[in-house]
Amino acid sequence: MSDRVLAEASAQIAAARRGERPAPVVRTFFDEKTFTATHVAHDPVTREAAVIDSVLNYDQAAGRTHHDEARRVVDYIRAEGLKVAWVLETHAHADHLSAAPWLQAQLGGKMGIGAEIVRVQDVFGKIFNAGTEFARDGSQFDRLFHDGDRFSLGEVQVTVLHVPGHTPADMAFVIGDAAFIGDTLFMPDYGTARADFPGGDARQLFQSIRRLLSLPGETRLFLCHDYKAPGRDCYAWETTVAAERDSNIHVHDGIEEDAFVQMRCDRDATLSLPNLIVPSVQVNMRGGRMPEPESNGTRYLKVPIDTL
Ligand SMILES: [Fe+2]
Repeated sequence: MSDRVLAEASAQIAAARRGERPAPVVRTFFDEKTFTATHVAHDPVTREAAVIDSVLNYDQAAGRTHHDEARRVVDYIRAEGLKVAWVLETHAHADHLSAAPWLQAQLGGKMGIGAEIVRVQDVFGKIFNAGTEFARDGSQFDRLFHDGDRFSLGEVQVTVLHVPGHTPADMAFVIGDAAFIGDTLFMPDYGTARADFPGGDARQLFQSIRRLLSLPGETRLFLCHDYKAPGRDCYAWETTVAAERDSNIHVHDGIEEDAFVQMRCDRDATLSLPNLIVPSVQVNMRGGRMPEPESNGTRYLKVPIDTL
């Protein structure tokens, strides 16, 4: 199963590299507050586009949302005359709120995420003691993706890979010769994503990463985050399979699974939780929507005490 999916994705990448199929144009918007890269990929022929991992601005102290980041994306899409077919999430993020429903209202398109989101909804639905009005069936999204799913963005082929480990639901969207790999690998000088959130698994993360690194060396990789590695003074979010295999500080070729798992678990034990994990998870498990308003018309987020 895995081999077939990887073979199809690899053939798709090779066809785009050879110019037999269009390769997507990618434009990235980087939110320096949450270190998140939102990517817009489009087919240069039909101008059909996908937005991947959008950001809703959230002022935690004031409990206020705004749309400055997402508006940059909307302005670009309108200026370029793109038609949004998909608003995608690589996973339910724990460090920023998704602007997917707001973008969908502005631009159209279908919201999609990995099918394992139902497991994430189950875990966090319990942690936040969400009521029965919170459906744990993924119905907040238009499409739930499985490993090996394929579709087209205009004339560009897309293959979806399930890459769990950071969370159970992580997906990589391989669009033409460009793979949007969410929180798996970071830039070679920074390493890999943490695997200690509920449902995370360092061993699974290693296997997912090795799977991504089995794609052709010239595959363009687009990351969800960058934090600037020591000695690097600009943000970066694009690399290649070959560069990661050669020099990723956590998983370059030759690093064995057990050594990675040990390193990852040791490092995760030193990391504090992301600033916005409490609001992010509550909103993102609902597909980027706030909880329903209470009887006074106000929406509230909860803070579980001594739980996370
Ligand atoms: Fe994440």
